[in-house]
Amino acid sequence: MKASHGLAISEKHAAECILDYKRTHSFIKGIYKAIGKLLNNKSEEPIRILYAGCGPYAPLLLPILNLLENDRLYVTFIDVNEDSLAVLRKVVAKLNLEKYVESIKYADAITYKHPDKLDMICSETMFSALTREPQVSITENLLPQLAPHGILIPEEIKINLGFSRFVDEPIVDTRPKNYHIKGDITKTPEDVRTLFAIHKNMSVNSQKMNDVFFESDWLSIEKPYDENPDICIYTELKVFGEESLEKAETTLTNPFCVGSIRKLKEERTIKLKYITAGMPYWQVDYK
Ligand SMILES: C[S@@+](CC[C@H](N)C(=O)[O-])C[C@H]1O[C@@H](n2cnc3c(N)ncnc32)[C@H](O)[C@@H]1O
Repeated sequence: MKASHGLAISEKHAAECILDYKRTHSFIKGIYKAIGKLLNNKSEEPIRILYAGCGPYAPLLLPILNLLENDRLYVTFIDVNEDSLAVLRKVVAKLNLEKYVESIKYADAITYKHPDKLDMICSETMFSALTREPQVSITENLLPQLAPHGILIPEEIKINLGFSRFVDEPIVDTRPKNYHIKGDITKTPEDVRTLFAIHKNMSVNSQKMNDVFFESDWLSIEKPYDENPDICIYTELKVFGEESLEKAETTLTNPFCVGSIRKLKEERTIKLKYITAGMPYWQVDYK
């Protein structure tokens, strides 16, 4: 199924995300700590949480709900997959978690408007290098709906550029019965630099006229990069506080190849664009 920006994966594939176990574990721990902070800071007041792209099991939040004060938590779950929501309603009923749930509803998180300011927004709708899935468009829509003290999960997604030999880069495969890392976990790319970051204080342009979220300057390539000719994107993920995910620890932080130095033209410059239209993707222009 295709959402307005990015791929809304099937109920089966959404369910399988749980098996990316370091991701699941880190998000659960981070969200538990983040809710604890909100409960401490906001005495007596309701805590409104939106879980955007919850999938059939909402695994980043459901396992910890019973550990938290239920009379203050108002959780809204949204997804664009009706089959996933039907499963989630059954799971919530089976585990007697209705007391935490404000609603479970079909909504596109790219356009959704919540009736109240939110204390926490939680969304994991991303793939390596922010391709394929609509994490950025979802964050752009939801961020203005977060209260000033509110918490965005993940707290920061940092996108870096580096030069490497992509076949040597470590890639984790978390498919059932196939869990393994191929490549060299010690491989270090050359000349790593940050391109942009997604976080609570980023500027959101709601009047945006096109879907180019990021465009670099023309970057001049002076070195030959004979050993590391591939132009790669590296994702650093800070879930919350100390909870973070490094390269190839999860499918979300797998390195991603977007181009090659071998395509350089006379001026030896490149420009990178990250485009959120359709299925989000990277474009490299060469001069
Ligand atoms: C990577 S899965 C994650 C599922 C679950 N949260 C987990 O952590 O295992 C992403 C989920 O986001 C949903 N999704 C994708 N685009 C969406 C959108 N625009 N609005 C709401 N949900 C969306 C998909 O249907 C899918 O269930």
